[in-house]
Amino acid sequence: MTNNKKSTPNQRELTPREIVKELDKFVIGQQQAKRSVAIALRNRWRRLQAPADLREEIMPNNIIMIGPTGVGKTEIARRVSRLTNAPFIKVEASKFTEVGYVGRDVESIIRDLTEYAVNMVKGEHRDEVGDKADEQCEERILDLLLPPVRKRQSATVEAEGQTTHDEADTLNTRDKLRQKLRNGQLDGKMIEIDLPSSGAPLMQVIGPVSLEEMGLNLQDMFGNLMPKKMKRRKVTVAEARTILTNEEAQKLIDHDAAVKEAIQRVENSGIVFIDEIDKIAGNKSPAGPDVSREGVQRDLLPIVEGSNVLTKYGMVRTDHILFIASGAFHVSKPSDLIPELQGRFPIRVELSVLTEDDFVQILTKPKAALIKQYTALVATEGVRLEFTPDGIKEIARVAGEVNEQVENIGARRLHTIMTTLLEDVLFDAPDEVRQEKVLVDAELVRSRLASIVRNRDLSRYIL
Ligand SMILES: Nc1ncnc2c1ncn2[C@@H]1O[C@H](COP(=O)(O)OP(=O)(O)OP(=O)(O)O)[C@@H](O)[C@H]1O
Ligand SMILES: [Mg+2]
Repeated sequence: MTNNKKSTPNQRELTPREIVKELDKFVIGQQQAKRSVAIALRNRWRRLQAPADLREEIMPNNIIMIGPTGVGKTEIARRVSRLTNAPFIKVEASKFTEVGYVGRDVESIIRDLTEYAVNMVKGEHRDEVGDKADEQCEERILDLLLPPVRKRQSATVEAEGQTTHDEADTLNTRDKLRQKLRNGQLDGKMIEIDLPSSGAPLMQVIGPVSLEEMGLNLQDMFGNLMPKKMKRRKVTVAEARTILTNEEAQKLIDHDAAVKEAIQRVENSGIVFIDEIDKIAGNKSPAGPDVSREGVQRDLLPIVEGSNVLTKYGMVRTDHILFIASGAFHVSKPSDLIPELQGRFPIRVELSVLTEDDFVQILTKPKAALIKQYTALVATEGVRLEFTPDGIKEIARVAGEVNEQVENIGARRLHTIMTTLLEDVLFDAPDEVRQEKVLVDAELVRSRLASIVRNRDLSRYIL
């Protein structure tokens, strides 16, 4: 993953064209949605380059992606998140309840996003101090393996020569140990280290749940004021290295600076992806579990409009956070959302229904296309799976047909079809009965699937 980050140019500098090109590697078609998302992302960067007085006024282009199920809405969001260095969170609108009801309140989105950003920034800082932390950790382990000689404290004048000799000796041994340590020869050796014992349980008992939900974790607030209880534990050198490097890194990074940077990053480039927003839209049923739908929208409104949310790291302003919502809108329409919320999502993009040709591409093109996945899976058992072009076309055709006849679930259909098609191969792969090479051509696809496709009741269950 870190590799990935380095190979792609810094997201803040990715142009819309480059963003679309990156997305193309994973998502087939849906150009309009990709373009809108790319523009919105680039606008974040543009805003930060704009004159300071204007910067405050430039609002994010919040987007609603509308499209039937299984055509790539969530997939676009997932890929965007990996492409950008911006703090990103994806939530499902249906998971939230109105304030006062049992369940998550919408402000937790911002708290989670901030938490994520803090970890992200700290991770970066930790990478920066990594070498230093490694060094310090090494010294600490060496100290544990070979306690340093207290210089001259006990040495008498007469013994001075002797002491220097001892010191030199120790240094020598230390260097040898260091070499062994670096080669991993000591990894299995047990040593004793002091670890902070896990928390003061009392604090958790007094801290009411709601406070914790608010992100005001008492232990975090007061934990640092109380002396940490330490506990001596026996661990291997390898484990100690992980623990102590981490500890040293913690000491080296400036917590406050990291938090400040994280909050800034959330406020200026944070992205919240709200999936399934249609589930909280419209359908004004007078009673029942739906009463809180509109309430969730009302709670969402200030956050999308811009407000301050209290997190355990401090206030976070949401004015410039980018919101991307998505939904199938089968039953409800975007116009069923409360007007104020509609107004905060000025950009609407529709994703198109996928065609058979799209299916062919989805099966083969994306970096982790289904066919590549299955080929790799059975290859681990020594079975070579090969798909002919007409075989792939036939899979796509069957998917289209079943989607049309039973229910259109978009590209998800490909998953069910592939598992059915390859069931025997997947089952037999480790056994004697297996074939070492399986050629999936149109013929095979038809013979495996035809009877199921023809029988509508059967396909309803299986495909
Ligand atoms: N355009 C596409 N290109 C590549 N793969 C796709 C595409 N559309 C869908 N898929 C595949 O289908 C699966 C389902 O897609 P996705 O989760 O994006 O659906 P969705 O549009 O969010 O649907 P829903 O409205 O049901 O949430 C994904 O795992 C993805 O692999
Ligand atoms: Mg989805």
